[in-house]
Amino acid sequence: MKKISVEQTVEMVGKEVNLYGWVDTKRDHKKIVFIDLRDRTGIVQVVGGEDFKSLNTEDVVWIKGLVKTRPEKLINPKIKTGTIEIEAKKVKVLNKTKPLPLPVTGDGHNIDEEVRLKYRYLDIRRPRMYKNLALRSKFIDLIRQHLFKKDFLEIETPILSETTPEGARDFIVPSRLQPGKFYALPQSPQQYKQLLMVGGVEKYFQIARCFRDEDPRADRAYGEFTQLDLEMSFVEREDVMNLVEGMMIEIYEKLNIPIKQKPFPIFTYQEAIKKYGADKFDLRTEEDKKNGIQAFAWVIDFPFFERTPEGGWTFTHNPFSAPKPEFMKDLLGKKNIGNILTTQYDLVCNGYEVGGGSIRNHTLEGLKAVFEIMGLDEAEINLKFGHMIEALGYGAPPHGGMAPGIDRLLTCITGETSIREVIAMPMTSGGRTAIMKAPSVVKDEKLKELGIKLT
Ligand code: AMO
Repeated sequence: MKKISVEQTVEMVGKEVNLYGWVDTKRDHKKIVFIDLRDRTGIVQVVGGEDFKSLNTEDVVWIKGLVKTRPEKLINPKIKTGTIEIEAKKVKVLNKTKPLPLPVTGDGHNIDEEVRLKYRYLDIRRPRMYKNLALRSKFIDLIRQHLFKKDFLEIETPILSETTPEGARDFIVPSRLQPGKFYALPQSPQQYKQLLMVGGVEKYFQIARCFRDEDPRADRAYGEFTQLDLEMSFVEREDVMNLVEGMMIEIYEKLNIPIKQKPFPIFTYQEAIKKYGADKFDLRTEEDKKNGIQAFAWVIDFPFFERTPEGGWTFTHNPFSAPKPEFMKDLLGKKNIGNILTTQYDLVCNGYEVGGGSIRNHTLEGLKAVFEIMGLDEAEINLKFGHMIEALGYGAPPHGGMAPGIDRLLTCITGETSIREVIAMPMTSGGRTAIMKAPSVVKDEKLKELGIKLT
């Protein structure tokens, strides 16, 4: 007989069903024993006798039983299957469990996070975590649907790569074939997506893993996180902003998540600083927060450069950005540097920066000027970015793009207090992987093969 999910049982009154799942709770009333059976779709009450006595919570069981409506006064309005119960005819334990190191009922918020991450495979048994993962999956599905409809190609770019400057530290991976040399894991696919534009792709996206060695925060995952990375050719700032805004609105409508203001309000960097004292801000009232309303806004017209502690210049957001067209002359002439505005646009939601992007410098002169302002000489530019400068010289189209952060958007939607609650297996704040014990010690012979000596 076919497996029936817990939530399907309500439609099967009077029928015999096959249920599979975990014993969520057990109540022993001597002659009869009640269990709540749990699967990914919910819980249902099952009534059994003697053969239920030996069941423990979290045992995996198969139950064959009859679906019956509950008497009026025993209806439980708190659960989806509260109008029915299952009268067990047969029960089989498919796997007995050892006592669990942490409870998997309840929301888990008050359990030590280190313990939750060590046993993440148990932690995600709790319905709250399953719900977050299911939402994440649906969200990514809706992104794909929207972008495929608009003729985007989904393309994967390399993970073992060269360093890209996004302002964080790199993770590096030693090379065996070329001892003494290292790959860097990409902080974003920024350069590759631009190279795809040079390749004539025109519309690219990727659900991209990015790797950054930076201190974790409530809104910042340590080690790796996920962007919806996208890039388009022959576009201006407004085209990218409109595409992303339209996509967000469609996705949020499909998920029945209310958005505070449409079209999204736009603030210049100056206005945002003056009004909110920061370039990310929360437009929600207390009432909005209670109702799960998402408050998006754009911030534009950021300064391109800021001073380094040493008195030089560095980029505020992205070195590959183009200045606003009216500042191109200043950029090329390396004049008026502190006042040059970039085409950068940031998307803000509920006080978080949930995305950033820009129109890029598609001419080699423009990109070179950025690096020169940052104090790089010809040799350094060629060493680090020679491939980009060269590529831009071969008929690179004007292009621009953006990368909304998927983990942050989901943190906002779910109202979770930490970004790690929407990631299946995030690292601990100390930089250890969930469940497995990386980073770990490597055997001497492995190091030797890589030409590495530890000091
Ligand atoms: P940026 O570095 O601003 O831009 O990143 C884009 C978005 O990614 C998210 N994000 C993070 N989310 C979780 N944990 C982190 N540690 C983390 N760091 C960043 C944020 C952020 O807005 N290549 C450019 C994009 C572009 O110009 O197209 C880039 O990576 O939501």
